[in-house]
Amino acid sequence: MTMRFDDRVVLVTGAGQGLGRSHALQFAARGARVVVNDAGTTTDGEGMNTAPADQVVEDIVATGGEAVASHDSVTRGEQLVQCALDNFGRIDVLVHNAGILRDRAFHKMSEDDWDQVYEVHLKGAFKVSRAAWPHLREQQYGRLVFTSSAAGLYGNFGQANYAMAKLGLHGFCQTLALEGRRYNIVANTLAPVADSRLTAEVMPAELREQLRPDEVSPVVLKLCHESQHDSGGLYETAAGWVGALRWERSRGHAFTRASPLTPEAVHEDWARIVDFHDADHPVDAQQSLSLLMQHRQSG
Ligand code: NAI
Repeated sequence: MTMRFDDRVVLVTGAGQGLGRSHALQFAARGARVVVNDAGTTTDGEGMNTAPADQVVEDIVATGGEAVASHDSVTRGEQLVQCALDNFGRIDVLVHNAGILRDRAFHKMSEDDWDQVYEVHLKGAFKVSRAAWPHLREQQYGRLVFTSSAAGLYGNFGQANYAMAKLGLHGFCQTLALEGRRYNIVANTLAPVADSRLTAEVMPAELREQLRPDEVSPVVLKLCHESQHDSGGLYETAAGWVGALRWERSRGHAFTRASPLTPEAVHEDWARIVDFHDADHPVDAQQSLSLLMQHRQSG
């Protein structure tokens, strides 16, 4: 099967350079009509520049593809979706990729550093998805990808704000996956690593050469194709490697009236509580509760 996107309208945020640019080019090369959104900010979210989005549109059109530029910030999500509707009459796919960094050790992090990162990554995801959602429901079709990061999955020194937003995106995505299921709306989270201006100062050149953005985009396209039905998933990709993550919960230990739950008892049984042998992998909140009730009953 060749994966095509003919007649699909794809909105990629932050598509003026880096990963988003690569996603936009690859979607367009496979027949999608692409809204190339980029506000053209600095890495820390300052300023505005229409040139990056315009250049990507030019590159797509030059190779026979269809694309239009959108220069609004993702915090004005309605404008981005309106751009898709005005130019192409619909929206099928949203890849939320726009991002900025305000890295600081936590004791130096200002409220503004926190708010700006939240606004672009997380509030931006809400604004664009919220604007697209009624259209996706109405047409009973939608594919969404949210761009997370290892910093969110594992934590990273100096990125408390970014980690909050990047893991928040997955919580958001999992719920959209549940709410979208009846409407053939599929939402997934992808944590990539790729050479871009964001990684330029933190990675050595030899490593950056192996981390090509165009080796991330095929995963995004797969997750956004009409054949994609797994939803609410979390994936990592870099350097041509792709893998999946899931929650793992220890079987834990159930306390009883006879051996009651006290801080001391938790301390005593700590090794069993954190033992991942024969662990559970709950996929939703209901299963999480029903499994723990089973463990409680079986003692
Ligand atoms: P980049 O800096 O090359 O591209 C990000 C783009 O987003 C820029 O063109 C910028 O103008 C645009 N942008 C920023 N704020 C915006 C706003 N409010 N509205 C619209 N556009 C806005 O960065 P890169 O590396 O391509 O990152 C893309 C995404 O991937 C980001 O969400 C980033 O956090 C994420 N990511 C990247 C990793 C990497 O290794 N490059 C690792 C993990 C996650």
